Amino acid sequence: MKKVIIVLFIALAWSCNTPDSETDPLPNIPKDPDNEVLRIPVVVHVMHNGEEYGVGPNLSNERIIRQIEILNEDFRRREGTRGFNDHPEGADAHIEFVLASTDPQGNPTSGIVRRQFELDELPSNIPNLEFERYAFFSYWGSSDYINIWTAPYPNDYTNIILGQATGPDTDLPGDKLFQKPLTGGAEGIVINWAHFGESDIEGGRNLGRTLTHEMGHYLGLLHTWGARDCEANDYCEDTPAVNEPVTSSEPYIGCDGEEVMIGNYMNYTSDEVMNIFTKDQVSRMRYVLRNSPRRVSLLNSEGL
Ligand code: ARG
Ligand code: ZN
Ligand code: CA
Repeated sequence: MKKVIIVLFIALAWSCNTPDSETDPLPNIPKDPDNEVLRIPVVVHVMHNGEEYGVGPNLSNERIIRQIEILNEDFRRREGTRGFNDHPEGADAHIEFVLASTDPQGNPTSGIVRRQFELDELPSNIPNLEFERYAFFSYWGSSDYINIWTAPYPNDYTNIILGQATGPDTDLPGDKLFQKPLTGGAEGIVINWAHFGESDIEGGRNLGRTLTHEMGHYLGLLHTWGARDCEANDYCEDTPAVNEPVTSSEPYIGCDGEEVMIGNYMNYTSDEVMNIFTKDQVSRMRYVLRNSPRRVSLLNSEGL
């Protein structure tokens, strides 16, 4: 009887141990019950300053469609594409992104919205956050769509500002490290138009991996170095620990004498080096998609 009580007590103490607990920096990430392909509607808001269609920030439909295809090659680790890897920890996320076919009013759409704007049209009460600014001009509810804005930054921002994303609300560890939307405010992904899709720009960020990286953040992934701490970084056991941004195209040794996974999408390397989401990263993203507010609702969106 005593034994039973002790076992019960341990079981209870274990179940009360929240994943955020500091004594438990690498809790098991809940494994998704299946490999069901999760399809998510996205809308691309092409923000521009009045350029002709296909010129500069007014990106062509072809370039946008190819970018979404690259995103899917990467998330599905699709064979015969740059998104494939045969790394032992590499995984197919079984997540696919689809340009929305129905808009918030229930009308058919291409999932691409073009919006000419002037920043000085912004009312002064709009908070000075890029997500809020672009959302003022063009935004679809984040419970039903992932909003992606391509931003018309000038050429001298190329290779300096790439993109940013708001992170989810989650009980997974590391939640505090995400950039959060304002309460009830806009969320989504902003990508410098120059880094959206494939192009011949110099600097190695020309293969569409900025969106793959930002989508990782949107679905709950941290940089592999997290808060730059060898013990608690990205809360994924299968990405070798590092305590500083990974930018190298050559393998090197990180924390614990382990070789750094330079090919991970959640690094700062050039696009051609990236091709791995790991099993733990996939588990985090699927957990977020199944549980987080304004993420779980995407799975039953009217937008598809
Ligand atoms: N600096 C950005 C971020 O932390 C984007 C990095 C994207 N990297 C790339 N190779 N495209 O979210
Ligand atoms: Zn990042
Ligand atoms: Ca790790």
